[in-house]
Amino acid sequence: MENHLSGTSRHLANRLAIEGGTPVRDTPLPWELPGAHYIDDDEKHLVDQVIDARSPFRFYGLDAKGMVDRLEAEWCSTFGHKHALGVNSGSSALHIALAAFGVGPGDEVMVPGYMWVSCMSAIVRTGAIPRLVDIDATFCMDPADLERKIGPHTRAVLTVNMSGAMGHNDRIAEVCEKHDLWLLEDCAQAIGASVKGRPSGSFGDIGIYSFQLNKNMTSGEGGLLVTENEDLFKRCSALHDLGYARNEHGRLDPSDERYQFWGTGSRMS
Ligand SMILES: Cc1ncc(COP(=O)(O)O)c(C=O)c1O
Repeated sequence: MENHLSGTSRHLANRLAIEGGTPVRDTPLPWELPGAHYIDDDEKHLVDQVIDARSPFRFYGLDAKGMVDRLEAEWCSTFGHKHALGVNSGSSALHIALAAFGVGPGDEVMVPGYMWVSCMSAIVRTGAIPRLVDIDATFCMDPADLERKIGPHTRAVLTVNMSGAMGHNDRIAEVCEKHDLWLLEDCAQAIGASVKGRPSGSFGDIGIYSFQLNKNMTSGEGGLLVTENEDLFKRCSALHDLGYARNEHGRLDPSDERYQFWGTGSRMS
């Protein structure tokens, strides 16, 4: 694109507003419900298509519109993930991810002291024990404290990108690799965040997002998980559903015994 700014004004435009540059906005951001302010005719049009088709179920219907498939495909192409799975909430996504890792009674999951209550409940509901790790100046998990606290029962690490902060996810991923631990990245508050071009959700074995009303992108309720690992994706797909895989027509296909679990009924509508 042609740049119309002279050298000096381009320099000013590139400066932070606090240093004399042009402010990106001159009114405060909304105190809460950030995503809700952006719901408009685009969303209305898409919802109308589903309602007009009387097909609000993702896998089949009178005239299924494949909206959830579309969201998952667009998420993958926008953020560069291999697999995405829409679910009914960020809390469900956390629980499904831990279940897909096989976390359960006798295991410990490391979690930062600054998090959301769903992080704790997801761990407790698997039967595992949460162990608190300090945060550092990034407001996210301190990798040094994590390494100090890893013990013989540690099975997984749940790192939380609070308020869009990405913390030291690269270092935490290295610690997990070294100690052979699963890494779950809670990006409920970090949709669209990245570090050096690497998107949130790509540091962990699984990353999760929330579309609850108080998130950057919202549908009132909703969630999504991403993974680069096909086996984990298939486990999550069965777990979020009735405990089985589905065929290309959206019908249950229990033939593959590797993907048979107790499902959680957490599909995205
Ligand atoms: C960090 C964090 N994790 C998990 C969740 C849970 O998401 P949801 O409300 O969609 O269940 C939230 C949002 O409330 C959150 O802020």
